[in-house]
Amino acid sequence: MSKNYPLVLAIDTSCDETAVAVTQGLMVKSNAVASQVQLHKQYGGVFPTVAKQAHIENLPATVKAAMSKAGAAWSDIELIAVTQGPGLAPALEVGLRFAQELAETHHKPLVGVNHIEGHLWSVVAQPWDRAGKTTPDLFTESEIEALKLPALGVIVSGKHTDFILVEAPGKYQRLGWTVDDAAGECLDKVGRMLGLGYPAGPILEEFSTLGDAHKFEFPLPMTTSGDFNLSYSGLKTSARNKIAEIEAAGKMDKQTIYDLAASLQAGVFRHICHKLSKVLVKYPEVGEVWLGGGVAANRALRSALRQTLSTHATTTKSRRLRLRTPYSKKLCGDNAAMIGVVAWWQPPQPSLALDRQPRLSL
Ligand code: KG4
Ligand code: ZN
Repeated sequence: MSKNYPLVLAIDTSCDETAVAVTQGLMVKSNAVASQVQLHKQYGGVFPTVAKQAHIENLPATVKAAMSKAGAAWSDIELIAVTQGPGLAPALEVGLRFAQELAETHHKPLVGVNHIEGHLWSVVAQPWDRAGKTTPDLFTESEIEALKLPALGVIVSGKHTDFILVEAPGKYQRLGWTVDDAAGECLDKVGRMLGLGYPAGPILEEFSTLGDAHKFEFPLPMTTSGDFNLSYSGLKTSARNKIAEIEAAGKMDKQTIYDLAASLQAGVFRHICHKLSKVLVKYPEVGEVWLGGGVAANRALRSALRQTLSTHATTTKSRRLRLRTPYSKKLCGDNAAMIGVVAWWQPPQPSLALDRQPRLSL
């Protein structure tokens, strides 16, 4: 049965990217991001009031850019979607108010979206070009049907490190999460100690290719906890102590930084892989694994996860599960395309009843 999917204008201002996209079903017609990274660099992290002001300034032009790239007029847009949470309260507030104004002015329905639900489904988003001449609604439905649900979502970002069982659109079970820092946060904090700037994740990835991952040993956390939770504060402390020791001995040179980057990155990813293999044993019904979030852009993480899936297949004498990743790096970090992609199954709400929810969970 075919279904018509609305043309969606989606907005995400949950953190430091002002993001607007136009999507239809699973297809991304445009994905505009006005990054504030340069603004926040001087603070070594995201400064909420600066983010708020930048969102206010960037939103009108970003909406224009997304609409024009998609070739869409206001009369074409059928639904407005906006991130309701989780995220920084002052930043979320700007996107929500702006979306409400747009919905009122142009008489469009408005839906609120969970940012994490967006990251989850970012792996099934499709570029508009790929659809070619395919009828959009049929294309969407066949894509959804091709998924081997339940899938296991692995969300690795600057704020989240989650294992989520995806049973159907809108039906989730959170199986594990970080009890302190997120994986990306750990990379960023240690990168800051090494003077690598913000965000340090991508720089650490580059440096890792030049370093020896076995040079420094990092602990594997929570091996006996019996749950699927993660913790990164121990790795961070271990890194801080190592850096202090090396600096005190006057031995911090370029190669040492590369070796620290490679060893830390390996330690951060080893923890995720270790817990992933435990989840897979407990949930044999998992049909595929989805990797989303800013850190999902990292090639070493992708290959470590694939290796884990191969090992799991061998030890359980089963088929190797597919690892789905977003089709572009722009869909890993914060973006609005992922918000649009999950918009069409959200319950419609009266526009003014929609409020920001900084701690929204799935
Ligand atoms: O999803 P995201 O843009 O924002 C959150 O919702 O948190 O993720 C940002 C995080 C930052 O910690 C950044 O350092 C990390 O993603 N990141 C990476 C890479 N690209 C971004 N970490 C490792 N390797 C990368 N290539
Ligand atoms: Zn995010």
